[in-house]
Amino acid sequence: MRDNYALVGFMGCGKTTVGRELAKRLQCPFWDLDAAIALGERRTIPEIFAQQGEAGFRELEHAYLKRAAGRRGVLSCGGGLALFPRNREVLSRHFTTVFLDCDFETCYQRIRASSRPLVQDKSEAEVRALFESRYPIYQACCDLQVNAAHSPFMVVQEILKQRRRHR
Ligand code: S3P
Repeated sequence: MRDNYALVGFMGCGKTTVGRELAKRLQCPFWDLDAAIALGERRTIPEIFAQQGEAGFRELEHAYLKRAAGRRGVLSCGGGLALFPRNREVLSRHFTTVFLDCDFETCYQRIRASSRPLVQDKSEAEVRALFESRYPIYQACCDLQVNAAHSPFMVVQEILKQRRRHR
């Protein structure tokens, strides 16, 4: 298993919050891929979706992931990144991939009022269907799966405990 971590999971599962906490514990840098894309492209994620469509965003996401792959630290990935085989290949080569497994209701409460393009025009049932279709993919691509419906501190404890077991 690698010393760099990539956090994957559905929107609202806590990747950014847990990622920051994990990086603090490991005393290493933290990167949020969506934030890096927005900064590098000088546009918000909703603006990129509006101007280039989801396909355009996915191209950028892959390019920025490859750039981040050589860096030391903890990387928080957007919820759709792990769906694409070319991204999973980068994850498996460069990172210990952690699936933050959080129930749909908790995720949905956190994201329902946000500006995320894949949530905005969808009903709760549609977002739930997206959650259910993605769940097995997160499970299959991760090295570690942790219950993320706890405090960020507890989730980090669990990640580190599982990581020690795998050494
Ligand atoms: C997406 C999740 C978002 C962002 C984009 C697409 C997805 O990131 O990358 O809106 O496909 O699930 P978060 O998971 O950080 O919200």
